[in-house]
Amino acid sequence: MEKLLVEPFFVMKVLERAKELEKEGKEVIHLEIGEPDLPVPERVKERAKEFLSKFEQKYTESTGIYPLKEAIAHYYEKTYGVKVEPERVVITPGSSPGLLALLKVVRERVGEISYPDPGYPCYKNVLKFLNLKGRGVPIYPEEEFKVKAERVETHALIVNSPSNPTGIIYSKEELKALSEKAFLISDEIYHGLVYDERAPSALEVSNNCAVVNGFSKFFLMTGWRLGWMVVPKELLPDITAILQNTVISPPTLSQYAALACFEEEVLEELSSNAEIFRKRRDVLLKGLKELGFKIPAEPKGAFYIYADASRFTDDSFKFAFEVLEKTAVAITPGRDFGENQTEKFVRFSFCTSVEKIEEALERLRGFLA
Ligand SMILES: Cc1ncc(COP(=O)(O)O)c(C=O)c1O
Repeated sequence: MEKLLVEPFFVMKVLERAKELEKEGKEVIHLEIGEPDLPVPERVKERAKEFLSKFEQKYTESTGIYPLKEAIAHYYEKTYGVKVEPERVVITPGSSPGLLALLKVVRERVGEISYPDPGYPCYKNVLKFLNLKGRGVPIYPEEEFKVKAERVETHALIVNSPSNPTGIIYSKEELKALSEKAFLISDEIYHGLVYDERAPSALEVSNNCAVVNGFSKFFLMTGWRLGWMVVPKELLPDITAILQNTVISPPTLSQYAALACFEEEVLEELSSNAEIFRKRRDVLLKGLKELGFKIPAEPKGAFYIYADASRFTDDSFKFAFEVLEKTAVAITPGRDFGENQTEKFVRFSFCTSVEKIEEALERLRGFLA
């Protein structure tokens, strides 16, 4: 096939094959997808219904409605003890288009950007798509898959904590050291889904950074397509102009419904979900270790386990498909996350019930024996 303008997600190939197997009547267990399975809070749905019946759904301001910016600013004060002016909050249709605009502006106004390898694939792919040269910083299992400040040689750096695919969390001291070396683009989309320790925000250590976050993970609202960024004032005019030209406005209904997310009871309900994910993590972690996978960095947040499968294969891409064919368990090959030792690794997500995780482990046990 002709080379595409931007790299696809390899996990989509796994998903396509999984769907075919399902059509053939196989019961596939999905440990490949990074989408929380829990339902969106009722309050959010109620607010959406109310708003839908009362108002026309017209465009909003390109960077989102002020009450949502205020609610997010207040959330930063309450959660992290940092003051953020609502004007610095930019609402986006999911965090992804925000990241796209941000990468362009940071590259042009701040300088070259590095990203972790392995890391979330869009960082590298979007930079390439924008025709911007970025630099992968290899991160190593022996160093808990963390970017070390002394290896950062660019003006800007993407950090992702808790991270996809490893679930590691950067401490406040580590973020501080990195922020002294480079302008941080801190992808905090997995904040709130933490199991052993708090995940500090980059805003706690520096005002001169950009934070990316959204409603897709902790807030469970993937299909509502809503995200946000907190950016330095100097970058606002460029970011606003890009968003005006590319997305016009974030979805109106989603923005008004999302206001409910910041009500006390809703936040409590969402926070209690971390316990559900913790149980799933514990079962999957124990099971994978018993099966012989090495887990060099045990996840402290997000909903992924990045497992070294080198005891079973030297080609984790092939391995992921073999596992799917033989066991109907879908997992993501490391290749999706970069080039650094990714042929050894696979990612398991725990966005499914403990029962299904146990069943998947049982199937893997049979296959690997
Ligand atoms: C690290 C990371 N950042 C950003 C996103 C994008 O999320 P969304 O565009 O739904 O906000 C994802 C989605 O999986 C992710 O894993």
